[in-house]
Amino acid sequence: MSVKVVKTAPIEGQQPGTSGLRKKTRIFMQTHYLENFIQATFNAIGGAKGKTFVVGGDGRFFNQPAIQTILKMAAANGAHKIIVGQNGLLSTPAASHLIRLNKTDGGLILSASHNPGGIDEDFGVKYNISNGGPAPEKVTDKMVVQTQTITEYKILNTANIDLGKIGIQNLANMQVEIVDPVADYQILMQQLFDFDQIKALFASGFTMRFDAMHAVTGPYATAILQDILGAQQGTVINAIPLENFGGYHPDPNPVWAKGLMDEMFSDQAPDFGAASDGDGDRNMIVGANAYVTPSDSLAVLVANAHLAKGYKAGLAGVARSMPTSSACDKVAAKMGIASFETPTGWKFFGNLLDAGKATLCGEESAGTGSNHVREKDGLWAVLLWLNILAVRKQSVAEILAEHWAEYGRNYYSRHDYEAVDSQAAKNLMADLIVQLPSLAGQSFAGLEVASADEFSYTDPVDGSVSHHQGIRINFKGEGRAVIRMSGTGTQGATLRVYLEQYVNQHADHFLEVQSALSAANKAILAISELPTRTGRNAPNVMT
Ligand code: G1P
Ligand code: ZN
Repeated sequence: MSVKVVKTAPIEGQQPGTSGLRKKTRIFMQTHYLENFIQATFNAIGGAKGKTFVVGGDGRFFNQPAIQTILKMAAANGAHKIIVGQNGLLSTPAASHLIRLNKTDGGLILSASHNPGGIDEDFGVKYNISNGGPAPEKVTDKMVVQTQTITEYKILNTANIDLGKIGIQNLANMQVEIVDPVADYQILMQQLFDFDQIKALFASGFTMRFDAMHAVTGPYATAILQDILGAQQGTVINAIPLENFGGYHPDPNPVWAKGLMDEMFSDQAPDFGAASDGDGDRNMIVGANAYVTPSDSLAVLVANAHLAKGYKAGLAGVARSMPTSSACDKVAAKMGIASFETPTGWKFFGNLLDAGKATLCGEESAGTGSNHVREKDGLWAVLLWLNILAVRKQSVAEILAEHWAEYGRNYYSRHDYEAVDSQAAKNLMADLIVQLPSLAGQSFAGLEVASADEFSYTDPVDGSVSHHQGIRINFKGEGRAVIRMSGTGTQGATLRVYLEQYVNQHADHFLEVQSALSAANKAILAISELPTRTGRNAPNVMT
């Protein structure tokens, strides 16, 4: 086993986005592409020598070959030990947990999350730091510099190791420990939730459907929901992880989990439905005839978390990304706990969680989580909902209706305009920024602009500042439109328009969502000139 030092040169475009480096799989498979990025990551953190890392992915096409390369590179760079999920599988939250549990120096998570998988689809690599969370910008900035100046990488000249064999193997002087991907995560969930109460709920005839979308949560959900908590066989569907996720988008929302939605809105609806994404960090929650938006789900979880044993002591605070609705702020205000508004992306929650300022966090993009790990956690959200349902003994629809009656409702929807011409999208944003100071006081589609700005965030823990985090336009009467460019897309630009309209406790809480938001939508389309600038008359996806 000899160490090969391979000469290389910088490759364009290796900047991590909202959540790691995401590209088309074929790009990652190009000579030196993955190797450059991994070596740049090691270089950026002061080398891998003597360090321990967690490595795993969501099982998509190229997952195992990429892991083999990473292991050989880690060994050649002098790493002490790598903990790997069996067959290369680890959900993102389980990887975060293993980093924390084993006090490792960090981890590499291979996933493009909810993007489709396959040789012609997407792949991704994300570096997480020792707190278990995605590398913050000060680390990714160093990685970028390294990708731009790299001249060589190190790799071991050796055969692949057996990723299926649980236990310790050696790769030169480095240990590789293959672990059951579910075991430690399951113990953590048992510590947080009242499994006996949830078991009793299932034993009483409560029915559920969990769509694992042929992605990584299949084994986790089967073990926890069916084998331990006693949900009926067949509760977990699409449970076998596939390299191409069965050809679908493993994105748990009403569009991509349409089969589950149809069942939940049918006469044979189970009591509770849920889904998770490619790498297991996102969640969708739906009751019989009751879809719960991620923003509402966060608010309900904040209001009820104390019903689960892991959160009995109450919450220090709640954090949400800026585009997420302010439903959870209303709950936090009533409970007298802090609420924080951060830029999009889980990496911005890490400091707040580490400092004990926030206990629960969430994003409108189906991400919810807590201080138990430093990633969002799909199955965790599902289990917290189950715990709440088991204690309150009410349906999802009843819980939602009571929530709105107590706090009012934040009607909410996100409209995505995908694969838009990049230059057109950039011009739209730039021209809109110029207009911002003059918008207040003007009316569009019957809504008067109360304030408009580009969101900047100053981290309350380390003082770091992040600019250009999306444009927000507040309307009089508690309506809002936000527009920002996606940082995870791999084709052209994706413009996201986020619409929100608050109505108080006594208003009608059961309007059709898009019609409740149509004024805010018309206003932002008029202000941004999105249809004429992009040639799009309707979004590709509405969630
Ligand atoms: C999207 C979501 C964001 C989430 C990220 C990673 O990023 O909007 O909330 O954290 O995926 O799952 P975007 O494409 O909008 O930059
Ligand atoms: Zn994900």
